[in-house]
Amino acid sequence: MDIIHSVADLRARLQREPNNVFVPTMGNLHRGHIELINIAKPRAACTVVSIFVNRLQFGPKEDFDRYPRTFEADCAKLRDAGVDVVFAPDEREIYPEPQTFVVEPSDLQHVLDGAVRPGHFRGVATVVLKLFNMVSPHSAIFGKKDYQQCLVLSNMVRQLALPIEIILAETVRAKDGLALSSRNAYLTPDERKEAPRLFQLLDKARNEIVGGSREYQAIELDVMAALAHHGWKPDYIAVRRQSDLRDPQSENKKLVVLAAARLGRTRLIDNVEVNL
Ligand code: PAJ
Repeated sequence: MDIIHSVADLRARLQREPNNVFVPTMGNLHRGHIELINIAKPRAACTVVSIFVNRLQFGPKEDFDRYPRTFEADCAKLRDAGVDVVFAPDEREIYPEPQTFVVEPSDLQHVLDGAVRPGHFRGVATVVLKLFNMVSPHSAIFGKKDYQQCLVLSNMVRQLALPIEIILAETVRAKDGLALSSRNAYLTPDERKEAPRLFQLLDKARNEIVGGSREYQAIELDVMAALAHHGWKPDYIAVRRQSDLRDPQSENKKLVVLAAARLGRTRLIDNVEVNL
């Protein structure tokens, strides 16, 4: 496994390996990330993983400084997973000067997580386009845990005609249902016990919709109330269409219930798809 820090070295290494598949990450790797690598590996001769905590996608009051950085442990996991190239640039390599050209995603960037985290998806789209240009993969893998991110990046690739196939992977969960996330490390032991409630309530909402309920607003309010009752501060609970995250019409059969809520100092997101 080659660990590469500069764009020049990366380009030189990948010149020998044009058939590559790419998994971008911010490090602090868990089984969710490894699952993306397992999906990637059979698809190309060379699997490239990037580790870069991207300041551009964090708000001024967000957790950029305390985001967990565990480079050595990450490299050991990537080696075990059979990754060929790790690209771990520092900030000066990715942003040698202030990033003045940015990717403005569609209206999608202003709803749900985009509304709560202004500029977040601009930061994500900009760094992912930049990484795509450095790696030049034929495919890239993203996790549905970050559902809105998947849609923003799929739209970017389509609208900007990038020659890259976007492959989406299912959310990997702990046994009790909690979606794996680097941010779970912030939870206190008591909060960790409480955290699976988010998925349990989303799953209940899914069952109600599958069972015939179309009272989406009532479902959203019920989940909100249950979370608030157990000490959470919900940002949003929303039943939306999978295709564009707009409000569903009666004829829409592919839905997704998305949630973001704070538990103590930790902000957790999750979602479940509902296919009617
Ligand atoms: P990060 O949060 O490190 O996630 C990297 C990739 O792993 C993303 O595609 C994310 O959706 C996926 N992932 C995270 N938890 C997962 C889980 N429990 N199951 C399945 N996949 C999971 O997302 C980012 O980094 C950044 O925004 C990035 C795309 C790297 C741009 O900076």
